[in-house]
Amino acid sequence: MKTPVKIAVTGAAGQISYSLLFRIASGELFGNDQPVILQLLEIPQALDNLQGIVMELEDCAYPLLDSISTSDEPNIAFQDVDYAFLIGARPRGPGMQRSDLIGTNAQIFAEQGQALNRVAHRNVKVLVCGNPANSNCMVTIANAPDIDPANFSAMTRLDHNRAVGMLARQCGVSASDVKHITVWGNHSNTQYPDLFHAKVKGQAATRLIDEHWMSDTFVPTIQNRGAEIIKIRGLSSAASAANAAIDHMKTWKNGTPHGDWVSMAVPSDGSYGITKGLVFSYPVTCQNGNYAIVQDLEINKFSLEMLKTSEAELLDEKKQVKNLL
Ligand code: NAD
Ligand code: LMR
Repeated sequence: MKTPVKIAVTGAAGQISYSLLFRIASGELFGNDQPVILQLLEIPQALDNLQGIVMELEDCAYPLLDSISTSDEPNIAFQDVDYAFLIGARPRGPGMQRSDLIGTNAQIFAEQGQALNRVAHRNVKVLVCGNPANSNCMVTIANAPDIDPANFSAMTRLDHNRAVGMLARQCGVSASDVKHITVWGNHSNTQYPDLFHAKVKGQAATRLIDEHWMSDTFVPTIQNRGAEIIKIRGLSSAASAANAAIDHMKTWKNGTPHGDWVSMAVPSDGSYGITKGLVFSYPVTCQNGNYAIVQDLEINKFSLEMLKTSEAELLDEKKQVKNLL
Protein backbone atom coordinates (compact mmCIF):
# COMPACT_ATOMS: atom_id res chain seq x y z
CA MET A 1 0.00 0.00 0.00
CA LYS A 2 1.23 3.55 -0.77
CA THR A 3 1.88 6.06 2.03
CA PRO A 4 -1.35 8.01 2.62
CA VAL A 5 -1.57 11.57 1.27
CA LYS A 6 -2.66 14.22 3.75
CA ILE A 7 -5.44 16.52 2.60
CA ALA A 8 -6.70 19.56 4.47
CA VAL A 9 -10.23 20.79 3.77
CA THR A 10 -11.40 24.03 5.39
CA GLY A 11 -15.06 24.85 5.80
CA ALA A 12 -15.49 21.11 6.12
CA ALA A 13 -19.03 21.34 7.50
CA GLY A 14 -20.20 23.60 4.66
CA GLN A 15 -22.18 22.90 1.53
CA ILE A 16 -19.31 22.42 -0.91
CA SER A 17 -17.41 20.14 1.45
CA TYR A 18 -20.48 17.97 1.89
CA SER A 19 -20.08 16.98 -1.77
CA LEU A 20 -16.29 17.12 -1.88
CA LEU A 21 -15.25 15.00 1.11
CA PHE A 22 -17.04 11.84 0.04
CA ARG A 23 -15.54 12.00 -3.44
CA ILE A 24 -12.00 12.43 -2.07
CA ALA A 25 -12.49 9.63 0.44
CA SER A 26 -13.80 7.27 -2.24
CA GLY A 27 -10.52 7.53 -4.17
CA GLU A 28 -11.93 9.54 -7.06
CA LEU A 29 -9.28 12.24 -6.83
CA PHE A 30 -6.07 10.38 -6.04
CA GLY A 31 -6.79 6.97 -7.54
CA ASN A 32 -7.94 3.61 -6.28
CA ASP A 33 -4.58 2.58 -4.81
CA GLN A 34 -3.92 5.77 -2.85
CA PRO A 35 -4.98 5.97 0.83
CA VAL A 36 -5.99 9.41 2.10
CA ILE A 37 -5.92 11.16 5.46
CA LEU A 38 -8.49 13.95 5.85
CA GLN A 39 -7.54 16.86 8.12
CA LEU A 40 -10.68 18.95 8.48
CA LEU A 41 -10.85 22.56 9.68
CA GLU A 42 -13.93 24.38 10.90
CA ILE A 43 -14.83 27.26 13.17
CA PRO A 44 -15.62 26.20 16.78
CA GLN A 45 -19.40 26.64 16.35
CA ALA A 46 -19.46 24.14 13.45
CA LEU A 47 -17.40 21.36 15.05
CA ASP A 48 -20.46 19.46 16.36
CA ASN A 49 -22.05 19.50 12.95
CA LEU A 50 -18.72 18.40 11.44
CA GLN A 51 -18.70 15.40 13.79
CA GLY A 52 -21.93 14.22 12.11
CA ILE A 53 -20.21 14.38 8.71
CA VAL A 54 -17.25 12.41 10.10
CA MET A 55 -19.73 9.74 11.24
CA GLU A 56 -21.22 9.61 7.74
CA LEU A 57 -17.75 9.28 6.21
CA GLU A 58 -17.02 6.41 8.61
CA ASP A 59 -20.32 4.79 7.65
CA CYS A 60 -19.22 4.65 4.01
CA ALA A 61 -16.43 2.21 5.01
CA TYR A 62 -14.20 3.59 2.27
CA PRO A 63 -11.20 1.24 1.97
CA LEU A 64 -8.88 4.14 1.08
CA LEU A 65 -9.86 6.40 3.98
CA ASP A 66 -6.97 5.93 6.38
CA SER A 67 -8.08 8.42 9.06
CA ILE A 68 -9.94 11.68 9.72
CA SER A 69 -9.10 14.46 12.15
CA THR A 70 -11.06 17.61 12.94
CA SER A 71 -9.89 20.87 14.43
CA ASP A 72 -10.64 24.57 14.74
CA GLU A 73 -6.92 25.31 14.72
CA PRO A 74 -5.21 25.82 11.32
CA ASN A 75 -1.80 24.86 12.78
CA ILE A 76 -3.24 21.41 13.51
CA ALA A 77 -5.36 20.96 10.39
CA PHE A 78 -2.52 21.97 8.04
CA GLN A 79 0.21 19.90 9.73
CA ASP A 80 2.30 18.23 6.98
CA VAL A 81 -0.51 18.40 4.42
CA ASP A 82 0.25 17.61 0.78
CA TYR A 83 -2.96 19.21 -0.54
CA ALA A 84 -5.16 21.96 0.89
CA PHE A 85 -8.65 22.90 -0.25
CA LEU A 86 -9.36 26.35 1.21
CA ILE A 87 -13.13 26.45 1.03
CA GLY A 88 -14.12 27.83 4.44
CA ALA A 89 -15.41 31.37 3.95
CA ARG A 90 -18.73 33.16 3.86
CA PRO A 91 -20.70 32.71 0.62
CA ARG A 92 -22.57 35.64 -0.94
CA GLY A 93 -26.34 35.98 -0.86
CA PRO A 94 -28.77 37.27 -3.50
CA GLY A 95 -27.89 40.69 -4.92
CA MET A 96 -24.29 40.64 -3.64
CA GLN A 97 -21.09 40.69 -5.68
CA ARG A 98 -18.33 38.26 -4.64
CA SER A 99 -16.07 41.25 -3.92
CA ASP A 100 -18.57 42.36 -1.21
CA LEU A 101 -17.14 39.44 0.80
CA ILE A 102 -13.59 40.75 0.79
CA GLY A 103 -13.86 42.54 4.13
CA THR A 104 -15.13 39.42 5.92
CA ASN A 105 -13.18 36.72 4.14
CA ALA A 106 -9.70 38.01 3.23
CA GLN A 107 -8.49 37.96 6.84
CA ILE A 108 -9.22 34.20 7.01
CA PHE A 109 -6.77 33.62 4.17
CA ALA A 110 -4.05 35.74 5.78
CA GLU A 111 -4.23 33.57 8.90
CA GLN A 112 -4.40 30.35 6.93
CA GLY A 113 -1.47 31.39 4.70
CA GLN A 114 0.61 31.90 7.84
CA ALA A 115 -0.40 28.52 9.21
CA LEU A 116 0.38 26.76 5.91
CA ASN A 117 3.76 28.48 5.95
CA ARG A 118 4.44 27.18 9.45
CA VAL A 119 3.31 23.58 9.23
CA ALA A 120 2.35 22.35 5.73
CA HIS A 121 4.55 20.17 3.53
CA ARG A 122 6.83 22.48 1.46
CA ASN A 123 5.34 21.09 -1.77
CA VAL A 124 1.73 21.49 -0.65
CA LYS A 125 -0.67 22.28 -3.47
CA VAL A 126 -3.25 24.84 -2.36
CA LEU A 127 -6.58 25.52 -4.06
CA VAL A 128 -8.43 28.64 -2.90
CA CYS A 129 -12.15 28.37 -3.44
CA GLY A 130 -13.59 30.81 -0.85
CA ASN A 131 -14.65 34.07 -2.47
CA PRO A 132 -13.42 36.42 -3.73
CA ALA A 133 -11.14 33.55 -4.69
CA ASN A 134 -8.43 35.33 -6.74
CA SER A 135 -7.71 38.02 -4.16
CA ASN A 136 -8.00 35.58 -1.26
CA CYS A 137 -5.39 33.45 -3.03
CA MET A 138 -3.10 36.48 -3.42
CA VAL A 139 -3.46 37.12 0.33
CA THR A 140 -2.67 33.48 1.13
CA ILE A 141 0.48 33.58 -1.03
CA ALA A 142 1.68 36.82 0.58
CA ASN A 143 1.35 35.23 4.02
CA ALA A 144 3.22 32.05 3.11
CA PRO A 145 6.60 33.42 2.00
CA ASP A 146 8.44 30.10 2.45
CA ILE A 147 6.24 28.21 0.00
CA ASP A 148 6.65 28.67 -3.76
CA PRO A 149 3.81 30.88 -5.11
CA ALA A 150 3.45 28.36 -7.96
CA ASN A 151 1.94 25.98 -5.36
CA PHE A 152 -1.14 28.22 -4.98
CA SER A 153 -4.08 28.67 -7.32
CA ALA A 154 -7.66 29.89 -7.19
CA MET A 155 -10.63 28.15 -8.70
CA THR A 156 -12.01 29.22 -12.06
CA ARG A 157 -12.56 25.63 -13.17
CA LEU A 158 -16.26 25.96 -12.39
CA ASP A 159 -16.50 28.86 -14.86
CA HIS A 160 -14.45 26.82 -17.34
CA ASN A 161 -16.78 23.83 -16.99
CA ARG A 162 -19.83 26.10 -17.31
CA ALA A 163 -18.38 27.48 -20.56
CA VAL A 164 -17.60 24.02 -21.96
CA GLY A 165 -21.11 22.82 -21.08
CA MET A 166 -22.87 25.82 -22.59
CA LEU A 167 -20.93 25.70 -25.86
CA ALA A 168 -21.50 21.95 -26.13
CA ARG A 169 -25.26 22.40 -25.63
CA GLN A 170 -25.37 25.19 -28.22
CA CYS A 171 -23.56 23.04 -30.80
CA GLY A 172 -25.45 19.85 -29.94
CA VAL A 173 -22.26 17.93 -29.12
CA SER A 174 -20.82 16.21 -26.06
CA ALA A 175 -18.71 18.23 -23.60
CA SER A 176 -15.80 15.98 -24.54
CA ASP A 177 -15.94 17.39 -28.10
CA VAL A 178 -15.13 20.90 -26.85
CA LYS A 179 -11.48 21.92 -26.44
CA HIS A 180 -9.40 25.06 -25.84
CA ILE A 181 -11.93 27.04 -23.83
CA THR A 182 -10.34 29.75 -21.70
CA VAL A 183 -11.72 31.72 -18.80
CA TRP A 184 -9.48 34.74 -18.26
CA GLY A 185 -9.26 37.02 -15.23
CA ASN A 186 -11.19 37.23 -12.02
CA HIS A 187 -13.75 34.74 -10.70
CA SER A 188 -16.33 37.54 -10.84
CA ASN A 189 -18.67 39.03 -13.37
CA THR A 190 -15.69 40.62 -15.18
CA GLN A 191 -14.30 37.18 -16.05
CA TYR A 192 -13.91 36.60 -19.77
CA PRO A 193 -14.96 33.23 -21.16
CA ASP A 194 -13.12 33.28 -24.49
CA LEU A 195 -14.37 31.29 -27.48
CA PHE A 196 -11.92 32.66 -30.04
CA HIS A 197 -9.54 29.70 -29.62
CA ALA A 198 -12.20 27.12 -28.81
CA LYS A 199 -12.62 24.03 -30.98
CA VAL A 200 -15.70 21.88 -31.40
CA LYS A 201 -14.92 18.45 -32.85
CA GLY A 202 -11.71 20.04 -34.17
CA GLN A 203 -13.46 22.95 -35.90
CA ALA A 204 -13.10 26.58 -34.80
CA ALA A 205 -16.08 27.38 -32.56
CA THR A 206 -16.34 30.83 -34.15
CA ARG A 207 -17.31 29.13 -37.44
CA LEU A 208 -20.17 27.26 -35.79
CA ILE A 209 -21.73 29.95 -33.62
CA ASP A 210 -23.06 33.41 -34.27
CA GLU A 211 -20.78 36.22 -33.06
CA HIS A 212 -23.75 37.99 -31.41
CA TRP A 213 -24.68 34.82 -29.51
CA MET A 214 -21.13 34.80 -28.18
CA SER A 215 -21.01 38.45 -27.06
CA ASP A 216 -24.66 38.96 -26.03
CA THR A 217 -25.62 35.56 -24.63
CA PHE A 218 -22.64 33.29 -23.96
CA VAL A 219 -20.27 35.75 -22.25
CA PRO A 220 -22.85 37.36 -19.89
CA THR A 221 -24.46 34.01 -19.06
CA ILE A 222 -21.16 32.51 -17.91
CA GLN A 223 -20.15 35.73 -16.13
CA ASN A 224 -23.41 35.76 -14.16
CA ARG A 225 -24.05 32.03 -13.73
CA GLY A 226 -23.11 31.99 -10.04
CA ALA A 227 -25.52 34.84 -9.24
CA GLU A 228 -28.28 33.18 -11.28
CA ILE A 229 -27.89 29.95 -9.31
CA ILE A 230 -28.08 31.87 -6.02
CA LYS A 231 -31.25 33.63 -7.23
CA ILE A 232 -32.96 30.39 -8.25
CA ARG A 233 -31.61 27.93 -5.67
CA GLY A 234 -31.42 30.35 -2.76
CA LEU A 235 -27.89 29.11 -2.03
CA SER A 236 -24.66 29.28 -3.95
CA SER A 237 -23.52 26.45 -6.18
CA ALA A 238 -22.17 23.54 -4.17
CA ALA A 239 -22.08 20.18 -5.98
CA SER A 240 -20.81 21.79 -9.19
CA ALA A 241 -18.22 23.72 -7.16
CA ALA A 242 -17.05 20.51 -5.46
CA ASN A 243 -16.90 18.84 -8.87
CA ALA A 244 -14.76 21.69 -10.22
CA ALA A 245 -12.45 21.48 -7.18
CA ILE A 246 -11.92 17.77 -7.89
CA ASP A 247 -11.31 18.50 -11.59
CA HIS A 248 -8.87 21.30 -10.72
CA MET A 249 -6.71 19.24 -8.35
CA LYS A 250 -6.88 16.14 -10.54
CA THR A 251 -5.65 18.05 -13.59
CA TRP A 252 -2.93 19.83 -11.59
CA LYS A 253 -1.71 16.50 -10.23
CA ASN A 254 -2.20 14.22 -13.26
CA GLY A 255 -1.80 16.66 -16.17
CA THR A 256 -4.00 18.08 -18.91
CA PRO A 257 -5.28 15.75 -21.59
CA HIS A 258 -3.18 15.78 -24.78
CA GLY A 259 -4.14 18.68 -27.04
CA ASP A 260 -6.19 20.62 -24.51
CA TRP A 261 -5.79 23.13 -21.72
CA VAL A 262 -7.82 24.21 -18.67
CA SER A 263 -8.40 27.49 -16.85
CA MET A 264 -6.67 28.07 -13.51
CA ALA A 265 -6.23 31.32 -11.62
CA VAL A 266 -2.50 31.53 -10.86
CA PRO A 267 -0.06 34.26 -9.87
CA SER A 268 0.61 36.31 -12.99
CA ASP A 269 4.18 36.32 -14.30
CA GLY A 270 3.28 39.21 -16.61
CA SER A 271 1.93 36.94 -19.37
CA TYR A 272 -0.48 38.72 -21.72
CA GLY A 273 0.49 42.06 -20.15
CA ILE A 274 -1.24 41.35 -16.83
CA THR A 275 0.30 42.92 -13.70
CA LYS A 276 2.74 40.50 -12.08
CA GLY A 277 1.56 38.95 -8.82
CA LEU A 278 -2.18 39.36 -9.42
CA VAL A 279 -3.90 36.00 -9.27
CA PHE A 280 -5.39 35.85 -12.76
CA SER A 281 -7.16 33.05 -14.58
CA TYR A 282 -5.20 31.86 -17.61
CA PRO A 283 -5.25 28.94 -20.00
CA VAL A 284 -2.75 26.45 -18.54
CA THR A 285 -1.36 23.04 -19.30
CA CYS A 286 -0.26 20.78 -16.45
CA GLN A 287 2.45 18.15 -16.38
CA ASN A 288 4.29 16.36 -13.55
CA GLY A 289 2.38 18.36 -10.92
CA ASN A 290 3.28 21.74 -12.42
CA TYR A 291 1.28 24.17 -14.53
CA ALA A 292 2.47 26.37 -17.40
CA ILE A 293 0.56 29.33 -18.80
CA VAL A 294 -0.22 28.78 -22.49
CA GLN A 295 1.76 31.42 -24.39
CA ASP A 296 1.40 33.35 -27.64
CA LEU A 297 -2.34 33.07 -28.16
CA GLU A 298 -3.61 35.81 -30.43
CA ILE A 299 -5.68 38.29 -28.43
CA ASN A 300 -7.98 40.47 -30.51
CA LYS A 301 -9.22 43.95 -29.55
CA PHE A 302 -12.48 42.66 -28.00
CA SER A 303 -10.60 40.09 -25.90
CA LEU A 304 -7.93 42.57 -24.82
CA GLU A 305 -10.57 44.96 -23.49
CA MET A 306 -12.15 42.12 -21.53
CA LEU A 307 -8.80 41.07 -20.02
CA LYS A 308 -7.99 44.67 -19.07
CA THR A 309 -11.39 45.16 -17.39
CA SER A 310 -10.88 42.10 -15.23
CA GLU A 311 -7.30 43.13 -14.42
CA ALA A 312 -8.55 46.59 -13.34
CA GLU A 313 -11.04 44.95 -10.96
CA LEU A 314 -8.29 42.79 -9.45
CA LEU A 315 -6.07 45.85 -8.99
CA ASP A 316 -8.93 47.51 -7.15
CA GLU A 317 -9.41 44.43 -4.93
CA LYS A 318 -5.65 44.45 -4.27
CA LYS A 319 -5.97 47.96 -2.84
CA GLN A 320 -8.70 46.73 -0.51
CA VAL A 321 -6.48 43.97 0.95
CA LYS A 322 -3.20 45.89 0.96
CA ASN A 323 -2.93 45.65 4.77
CA LEU A 324 -2.88 41.83 4.44
CA LEU A 325 -0.20 41.61 1.75
P1 NAD B 1 -21.03 27.38 3.45
O1 NAD B 1 -21.45 28.58 4.20
O2 NAD B 1 -21.99 26.28 3.21
O3 NAD B 1 -19.76 26.74 4.15
C1 NAD B 1 -18.67 27.50 4.54
C2 NAD B 1 -18.10 26.84 5.76
O4 NAD B 1 -16.89 27.51 6.07
C3 NAD B 1 -19.00 26.95 6.99
O5 NAD B 1 -19.23 25.66 7.53
C4 NAD B 1 -18.22 27.83 7.95
O6 NAD B 1 -18.41 27.48 9.31
C5 NAD B 1 -16.79 27.56 7.49
N1 NAD B 1 -15.84 28.61 7.84
C6 NAD B 1 -16.03 29.93 7.93
N2 NAD B 1 -14.90 30.55 8.34
C7 NAD B 1 -13.97 29.58 8.49
C8 NAD B 1 -12.62 29.58 8.91
N3 NAD B 1 -12.00 30.71 9.26
N4 NAD B 1 -11.97 28.40 8.96
C9 NAD B 1 -12.58 27.26 8.62
N5 NAD B 1 -13.87 27.18 8.25
C10 NAD B 1 -14.56 28.35 8.17
O7 NAD B 1 -20.40 27.91 2.07
P2 NAD B 1 -20.08 27.08 0.75
O8 NAD B 1 -21.28 27.08 -0.12
O9 NAD B 1 -19.44 25.78 1.08
O10 NAD B 1 -19.03 28.07 0.05
C11 NAD B 1 -17.77 28.29 0.63
C12 NAD B 1 -17.04 29.41 -0.13
O11 NAD B 1 -16.75 28.99 -1.46
C13 NAD B 1 -17.84 30.71 -0.26
O12 NAD B 1 -16.96 31.83 -0.08
C14 NAD B 1 -18.35 30.64 -1.67
O13 NAD B 1 -18.65 31.93 -2.20
C15 NAD B 1 -17.16 30.02 -2.37
N6 NAD B 1 -17.39 29.41 -3.68
C16 NAD B 1 -16.43 29.57 -4.63
C17 NAD B 1 -16.60 28.99 -5.88
C18 NAD B 1 -15.55 29.16 -6.95
O14 NAD B 1 -15.84 28.77 -8.10
N7 NAD B 1 -14.37 29.69 -6.69
C19 NAD B 1 -17.75 28.24 -6.15
C20 NAD B 1 -18.71 28.09 -5.16
C21 NAD B 1 -18.52 28.69 -3.92
C1 LMR C 1 -20.13 30.43 -8.17
O1 LMR C 1 -19.55 30.84 -9.16
O2 LMR C 1 -21.14 29.71 -8.26
C2 LMR C 1 -19.61 30.73 -6.79
O3 LMR C 1 -18.52 31.61 -6.84
C3 LMR C 1 -20.65 31.20 -5.84
C4 LMR C 1 -21.08 32.62 -6.18
O4 LMR C 1 -21.06 33.45 -5.26
O5 LMR C 1 -21.44 32.88 -7.32
